[in-house]
Amino acid sequence: MSPDQLKVLAIPGSLRGDSFNARLLHRLVELAPPELVFIDHFLDGLGDLPHFSQELEGERTPASVEALRRRIAAADALLIATPEYNSAMPGVLKNGLDWASRPSGESVLAAKPAAVLGASPGRFGAVRAQADVRTVLTAIGAEVLDEELPVAAVHEKFGDDGTLQDEETDRALRSLLGSLLELAGGPPVSESDSADYSRECQRLAAAS
Ligand SMILES: Cc1cc2nc3c(=O)[nH]c(=O)nc-3n(C[C@H](O)[C@H](O)[C@H](O)COP(=O)(O)O)c2cc1C
Repeated sequence: MSPDQLKVLAIPGSLRGDSFNARLLHRLVELAPPELVFIDHFLDGLGDLPHFSQELEGERTPASVEALRRRIAAADALLIATPEYNSAMPGVLKNGLDWASRPSGESVLAAKPAAVLGASPGRFGAVRAQADVRTVLTAIGAEVLDEELPVAAVHEKFGDDGTLQDEETDRALRSLLGSLLELAGGPPVSESDSADYSRECQRLAAAS
């Protein structure tokens, strides 16, 4: 791998075998420019994590959680494709992010560039779930791309062979990859309100 290449970890928020969100991540892998390399392609195993509990921290941290943290730490950037369940991100994804947010002050997500997209058969393309994910990532201190990519009526955009048949979505996916590359490869962002907010969140988490 060239030093000019960025390692991307794709995270599907759905456990469904034929997930539309996972299909979009597969398409992103196909569309990626040479500067972006997907490591191990996808983060699977979100469903194998135990429910987050502060009683399972420190020496009692489960091996599956350590593995999750190692995989995130090894990535230069994250791409998360989230479904929307009842106007929010799926619990399994929130659980993974909660685990990755700890230990407080040492999260592997801190300063990690991340882009979020989402798909739904409905009219809004999981836009509320994407906002939810961005809020949580920002609270943890990740460097979150301030763009959304809602793919509405997603079931109409794939052919019977499972390939994406929609030029507009393809263009939007390419554009998202470009924005992520810029975010992850560009100069460090300056201090911002969101950084102050994440520090406050970390402080409250450490105090609890
Ligand atoms: C429990 C549940 C709640 C859902 N709530 C929403 C919702 O709030 N908004 C929406 O657009 N779709 C909703 N859906 C439909 C999902 O968007 C749809 O099942 C989608 O295909 C899931 O993503 P996946 O294909 O990546 O698994 C819901 C589905 C389930 C199972």
